[in-house]
This record gives sequence, C-alpha cells and structure tokens, in this order.
Amino acid sequence: MTKTVYYTASTLNGFLADKHHSLDWLFAVDTAGSPDIAAFMDSAGVFVEGSSTYEWILKAENLLAEPAKWQQYYGSKPTYVFTSRTLPVPDGADVRFVSGDVAGVLEEITAAAGDLNVWVVGGGDLAGQFLDCGALNELVVTYAPAALTSGAPLLPRNVGVDSLVLRSAEKQGEFAVLTYGVRGREGSTQSAEGGTP
Ligand SMILES: NC(=O)c1ccc[n+]([C@@H]2O[C@H](COP(=O)([O-])OP(=O)(O)OC[C@H]3O[C@@H](n4cnc5c(N)ncnc54)[C@H](OP(=O)(O)O)[C@@H]3O)[C@@H](O)[C@H]2O)c1
Repeated sequence: MTKTVYYTASTLNGFLADKHHSLDWLFAVDTAGSPDIAAFMDSAGVFVEGSSTYEWILKAENLLAEPAKWQQYYGSKPTYVFTSRTLPVPDGADVRFVSGDVAGVLEEITAAAGDLNVWVVGGGDLAGQFLDCGALNELVVTYAPAALTSGAPLLPRNVGVDSLVLRSAEKQGEFAVLTYGVRGREGSTQSAEGGTP
C-alpha cells in the first residue's frame, strides 16, 4: 500500500539546512551506522521536493553537467518539483514540474508511485502543505547531534500533540531516528479529503 512519507535529516533544533542552504552540519556527522538512505530510496517510487531542494541537488551533484549520475541515483523514477519557475533538467531525467495546491496533483503523484511509497524530500513548508491537506502518512526524522541558529525549518506549522503518534525511536549511529504516524492516516493511501486529521 502506498504511503506518503516525509523523510529528512534535521538538526536537533529543527533545521534542514543553514540560511545559505548548506548541509555542512550534516556531512560533518560520522556516518558509521547511520540511517540507510539507499534502502529508503528503494522503498520510494516517486520523489517530491520544492525548488530549493531540487536546485541544491543539481548543484551539489553537478547533475546538469553529469546527467548520467541522475540515473544512478534515481533510475527511471519520477521526481516532482514544486515551483512557479522554469528550471533546468538533467538530460534524460524524469523531472515533472508542478505548482499550486498539493491536492490538485496528489492523485497524479500517488499513481506515479505505483506500489511503492511517495518520498516527500522537503523542504519543510512543502511537507507542511502535504500535512495540511491530509496527504501525509508518516514523518521520519533523523536528528543529527548539531544545532543551528537559523535556516530552513523542518516543519513550519503548528502541529498539536493529537496529530502525530510516535511509532519508534532508534539510535542509528550518531543519529536519533524518530518515526511518527499521522493520526488517522497511518497505513492508508492518501487522499486530499478531510484536511489535517
Ligand atoms: N536535511 C535534509 O535532509 C534536507 C532535506 C530536504 C531539503 N534540505 C534542504 O533544505 C532546504 C529547503 O529549502 P526551502 O525551505 O526553501 O524549501 P523547498 O521546498 O526546497 O523550496 C521552497 C520553494 O519551492 C517552491 N514551492 C514550494 N511549494 C510550492 C507550491 N505549492 N507551488 C509552487 N511552488 C512551490 C517555491 O519556490 P519557487 O516557486 O520560486 O520555485 C518555494 O520558495 C534546501 O536547502 C534543501 O537543500 C535538506
């Protein structure tokens, strides 16, 4: 059954990146025993991200100049990028630009995932948009032992304690991995009906 999962690394105090979109704080963490991102990628049929995240990936991996790397990472799985702009695409990459309400493209995104999951890569506001319309089933946050004074927020929303259910808390190397189900949406296929549970 397809799940929509917001899976991300975060600082202890809830930032995805610093104010310059740098992940240096994350790459400084010792990777021994760290979360198995490759396995998580295998469980996803579709990647969903905002334009800052997409542009960061393009630049960090030099994907416009080395498009073959895109296939190595994503294979033929589609990436949906939320943006109001026209952005470049690595040769041969299945990148689909969408904009506006998440609810308006949810059915298309879910269908594209097939039997696999939808990975909401980030940023935090886009994950919030999925949560707002009842489209998110799960949050998996891998907390690094680092903090920042400012940057891109993990989830810029008011989320009451009745919205999320802690499913597991694990030590994976230097990371604390917390998995939350979204109350009322655990194990269900997503729909845009009903708003935040
Ligand atoms: N720590 C981690 O594991 C992790 C994970 C994910 C991301 N990150 C990093 O965190 C940062 C996130 O950046 P961010 O907070 O700016 O978030 P983002 O979601 O990557 O990008 C936000 C932008 O996406 C576009 N967008 C979002 N929702 C839209 C909608 N419904 N319709 C049309 N366009 C929409 C808008 O830009 P335009 O319309 O102008 O294009 C918006 O300014 C990046 O640096 C990324 O690399 C880190």
